[in-house]
Amino acid sequence: MENDKKRNLILIGFMGTGKSSVGKMLADMMNYKFVDTDSYIESKAGSSIPELFASRGEDIFRQLEQEAIQEILHSDGLVVSTGGGSILREENRAAMLAGGQVIALTADADSIIARVSQDPNRPLLQGSVEERVHTLLEQRKDAYRFADLTIDTTDLSVDTIVGIILAHHR
Ligand code: S3P
Repeated sequence: MENDKKRNLILIGFMGTGKSSVGKMLADMMNYKFVDTDSYIESKAGSSIPELFASRGEDIFRQLEQEAIQEILHSDGLVVSTGGGSILREENRAAMLAGGQVIALTADADSIIARVSQDPNRPLLQGSVEERVHTLLEQRKDAYRFADLTIDTTDLSVDTIVGIILAHHR
């Protein structure tokens, strides 16, 4: 493709910022394939994310995640939804910036807590969800800033977010 930034759209953001819902709709509208890094890791490893954290630990999970990102971004024409912690490794940030347009979705802590409380499958949020979200948000507060575009999704519908991304991607 003439412009490497158009090869793929890569969604980054904290858990519960809407990467999967936005990514699926975007992929439909653009006729791109939707790939979720967590699902990719799960099918390759043959076990769920919570099982991987429990049996092999976070470091091994991060290694599998790094390999997944490298492998996925060899292809073009994808909308990639990434795990919320994937941006912690410099290798992943570099691969994302080289692999397409990186879009960060953000949301305020209350919205994130409301959204993730519905879903028990996040190993890093075991215990008090509120406390964990605040702690991790503080630790990662600058980590999503390398994106080409950042959208605060707190008060936006999925349709609106997709519209903003499509307008920007043109
Ligand atoms: C994680 C986010 C999760 C998943 C894993 C770790 C994180 O993905 O990769 O539980 O470190 O923020 P989502 O952001 O899709 O929930």
